[in-house]
Amino acid sequence: MNRREVIRKVAMGGTTLVVLPAMLASCEKEPDGPGGGGNDLTIDLGLPANAALNNTGGFIVTNNIIVINTGSGNYTALSAVCTHAGCTVSYSAAANNLPCACHGSLFAIGGAVINGPATSPLAVYPVSKSGSILTITR
Ligand code: FES
Repeated sequence: MNRREVIRKVAMGGTTLVVLPAMLASCEKEPDGPGGGGNDLTIDLGLPANAALNNTGGFIVTNNIIVINTGSGNYTALSAVCTHAGCTVSYSAAANNLPCACHGSLFAIGGAVINGPATSPLAVYPVSKSGSILTITR
C-alpha cells in the first residue's frame, strides 16, 4: 500500500466515521409524500434522545428547531437559529424565554425579540401531538 492509497483509505474511513454517527443519532424522521407534507418533522417522545421533552421546561434542538415542553401537555417549536448572526438559541425554563449566548439577544417564547442585537423574531412552527409522536409542520 503506497502513501496515496493510505491517504485515500483514511479519508474514506473518516467520512464513514463522520457520517455514521450522524445517521445513528438521528431520532427523527422526515416523512414525505401525501399527508406528510414532505417537510414535517416528527419526534418520538419515547426515544431516549428526546427524553427531555417529557418534562415541563425540557427542550431539545434538532434540525435547527428548538422544541420545548411548555407544560400541561403543550409544546412549542421555534427556529433555533438566532436571527442576528445564526447562533443556536437555548431555552431558559426559569425565565420562559430563549437567550442567544453569542451576542446576548433574547427572544420571547412566542418568537418576538425582547433584547437585541437581533431585530427579527424567531419563526414559530405548529406542533401537534398524537400519542407519543410530535409533528412539527415546517
Ligand atoms: S447570533 Fe444571536 S445574538 Fe448574535
